[in-house]
Amino acid sequence: MKLLVTGGAGFIGSCFVRMALQKRWAEQVVNLDKLTYAGNLENLQPIAGHSGYRFVELDICDSSGVENLFRCEMPDAVIHFAAESHVDRSIHSPAPVITTNLNGTFTLLEAARRNQISRFIHVSTDEVYGSIEPPQEANEKFPLRASSPYSASKAGSDLLALSYYTTYKLNISVTRASNNYGPYQFPEKLIPLMISNALEEKPLPVYGDGQQVRDWLYVEDHCNAIRAVLEKGRAGQIYNIGGNCSLPNLEVIRRILKATGKPESLITRVTDRPGHDRRYALTNEKLTRETGWQPQMRFDDGLASTIDWYERNRDWVQRVKSGEYRHFYELNYANRAE
Ligand code: NAD
Ligand code: DAU
Repeated sequence: MKLLVTGGAGFIGSCFVRMALQKRWAEQVVNLDKLTYAGNLENLQPIAGHSGYRFVELDICDSSGVENLFRCEMPDAVIHFAAESHVDRSIHSPAPVITTNLNGTFTLLEAARRNQISRFIHVSTDEVYGSIEPPQEANEKFPLRASSPYSASKAGSDLLALSYYTTYKLNISVTRASNNYGPYQFPEKLIPLMISNALEEKPLPVYGDGQQVRDWLYVEDHCNAIRAVLEKGRAGQIYNIGGNCSLPNLEVIRRILKATGKPESLITRVTDRPGHDRRYALTNEKLTRETGWQPQMRFDDGLASTIDWYERNRDWVQRVKSGEYRHFYELNYANRAE
């Protein structure tokens, strides 16, 4: 099996590449990544010398580069992770989000169609369902109600991907996962940001009242689910992937402070995110029924091992927090205190 993974230098993609080679899901993995601010080859250090691994620095919007790569490599399957993935960045600056998430996905789908690639997994998000009223949980038939430029771009790319099944019979499945956490996550997202700020005893910026609810999925559980869809998922189908762990943000932050032994006085209320979705909730029932997959990691265990990783990898954190990160932090958090 030869896999072509897009966005394999990012948080989830790099976890998938490491697992695919270490667990022998595939003999060969080609990692196509543009290395944006979120792409980091350090994430691939554990498999960098693997004989079946190849890295290609490329923009998924570069149609001739993508076409050449597909023609040369002829992968058995494409796992498409590459995206601009942060909601706050999509609010400050929507253009790269639209370009990569929509045009980039289109470029890959066209290359897959022209080269008759036999399997394509489009990795998407539960954010496409928008805010869900309790006690409901979104299944795959829920309407799309995207709130941010990020979630709208993902909803659009989901529809485009599914159209390639309907029209061209491309063997494509779409996965929609909830909030991931784990090692190597860029510290712009809630859990790694709060862990790294707590470890440095910096303020923990909570948007609004902190009662927004997210479902938390350990990144390795997510990658196992994608593999299950790759092997057993049906063409033209959507599969939700959740961690069965719904928590309000403030509860997550309090658990981080408790686990790191830092005071709750670090919690700082800041102005809410515009268009902020109140609650995400989804059911895994279809994926479990069709593939047997279930999330394995208990949240407190996953959080403890994630905190441990960030404590042991302060150099990694310092390197990614230098340069561009500081500009983003200033842009997103300055003048926001309530
Ligand atoms: P990330 O931001 O950590 O990594 C994205 C990767 O894509 C980076 O390596 C980046 O360099 C690469 N990339 C960006 N633009 C590119 C382009 N134009 N060409 C080639 N490469 C490009 O993202 P992540 O959190 O690992 O998310 C991966 C995927 O999973 C995304 O599609 C995201 O929408 C989806 N997802 C994420 C979560 C989450 O909680 N993080 C949850 C559900 C779904
Ligand atoms: O649900 C899946 C989605 O989860 C993915 O598709 C996205 O790629 C990923 O970024 C994530 O989106 P969220 O917006 O839910 O994640 P984020 O970590 O940015 O925020 C989680 C919650 O925490 C959200 O309610 C906003 C809040 N938050 C976030 C940050 C960064 C804060 O209160 N303070 C913060 O500083």
